[in-house]
Amino acid sequence: MLLKQPAKVSNTAKLQAVVSNLELLYIKAKDFHWNTKGVYFRQHHKMYDEIQEVALDWADTFAERMRSLDMPVVATAKQYINDAWYPEAERAMVAEEMLKDMKLTLTCISKNVQELIADVGIDAVTQNKLQDLCADIDKQYYFVNSSMEVK
Ligand SMILES: [Fe+2]
Repeated sequence: MLLKQPAKVSNTAKLQAVVSNLELLYIKAKDFHWNTKGVYFRQHHKMYDEIQEVALDWADTFAERMRSLDMPVVATAKQYINDAWYPEAERAMVAEEMLKDMKLTLTCISKNVQELIADVGIDAVTQNKLQDLCADIDKQYYFVNSSMEVK
């Protein structure tokens, strides 16, 4: 049974940032899914769709975890942009630039989530979810990195 604890303002902001950045990852992955071009179109198109699925699933998990802890969740574009850990994609990127941008984005998310994993103020159950999120983000990085042309 869940022990009710008063929502800590700092933890609310930290977990809100996780939700916001996963929603932004969803937007970026869909952007690349729709706009990538080139000889590897099919593979990249599919890979970006997998990333958006991972992003949406985890955003939902963390938003519902916050609600379980009696924390409010803000689901507005304004909040997401305000919490952003990484920049939005530039316009008119070619496939290789999208891959590089996605690698930087996933690295940034992994780094920020790892900092939260090291945060002793976050409860153990949420920490467990953060660890699983980090493993999934790192796996997506591996997929993107492995799809880049070897030069
Ligand atoms: Fe699609």
